[in-house]
Amino acid sequence: MTIPQVKPWIDAIHAYVPGKAKLSGIADPVKLSSNESPLGPSPDAVAAMAAVAGHAHRYPDGASTALREAIAAHHGLEVDRIVCGTGSDELLKLLAQAYATVGDEVLYVRHGFMVYPIAAQCAGATPVAAPDVDYTTDVDALLAAVTSRTRLVYLANPNNPTGTMVGRADIHRLHAGLRSDILLVLDGAYAEFIDDPDYEDGFAMARDLPNVVTTRTFSKIYGLAAERIGWAYGPKAVIATLDKIRAPFNVPTAGGAGAIAALADTAWTAAAKAHNQTWRTWLAGEIASLGNAGLRAVPSAANFILVTFAADGLLTAAAANAALMADGILVRHLPGQGLPNALRISIGTEAETRAVAASLRGFVATHS
Ligand SMILES: Cc1ncc(COP(=O)(O)O)c(C=O)c1O
Repeated sequence: MTIPQVKPWIDAIHAYVPGKAKLSGIADPVKLSSNESPLGPSPDAVAAMAAVAGHAHRYPDGASTALREAIAAHHGLEVDRIVCGTGSDELLKLLAQAYATVGDEVLYVRHGFMVYPIAAQCAGATPVAAPDVDYTTDVDALLAAVTSRTRLVYLANPNNPTGTMVGRADIHRLHAGLRSDILLVLDGAYAEFIDDPDYEDGFAMARDLPNVVTTRTFSKIYGLAAERIGWAYGPKAVIATLDKIRAPFNVPTAGGAGAIAALADTAWTAAAKAHNQTWRTWLAGEIASLGNAGLRAVPSAANFILVTFAADGLLTAAAANAALMADGILVRHLPGQGLPNALRISIGTEAETRAVAASLRGFVATHS
């Protein structure tokens, strides 16, 4: 008997593995595994979502008009060059679907966001990972990996899971080195955490250049991960293409209302950013203070820190992960992403951040 045959490139996909949310035997673990906001959503966003909950029997506005207008006003962008998605994940995936196919290549940085290779494979294209340097994007390596078959380049800046950022000159050099038929996708999921004047948000590039598109999310600094809302800004042709192939009602009414309120509550966003900077700096200092135990906090511009460990001996990332779990703390160990010697730790509340530092300190003391 023959059975339905999945396309071979779909069959070859390794499904995205989300950060652990549960720990057996521990009712309420400290969850620092998914780069969520420790402050949660703005109370205004919660109120806005509650206010429309009774409309749940009606389909949402399929064009997300009010949300796109709010985003455009907030960032000084043109509303007709914005498209919203069910998380930026939806849009990242649709970009590959629209611009790459079997035989094409989609380029991204090694130790990059795992949705990129999955998006490429969904389109039948081949994902190609360019080497990085000390967990940081290497523009020369990316450009060297471009071939006649390259159609799309994904770049998260800052990058996940490494947290590193590259500056304006690097982004422009990357674009300048790409053929004009290659779409450069600048993924700014963590852009709102940055203060560095050298940060290139990509908006002017996406306005002026036909082959640059930017993506953003409400899942991180705005604390609305559960609502699944992202957006893209870029050339009219690219936005129109995404608009054609997205799901018809892809942003729920409540989430859209929450996102509009979250944008307006600039004090809440500023507090989330300040909290992140304070506790990221503190945690990096704590890790540095562990001395020569082999732990290193990779410099981060995002709301998490990648901590590298010794490759062997007693103080490995796997052993630290087990010790943290024993203390009820969930972080991200990513051996499947070529990071067997590292843990990615999201910045939590003050109590959570102190707890993770204390647990690591105890781990080092016990094993050295
Ligand atoms: C670099 C990067 N891009 C995009 C996303 C997806 O965000 P969402 O689909 O929640 O908007 C994430 C989430 O972790 C991310 O780290």
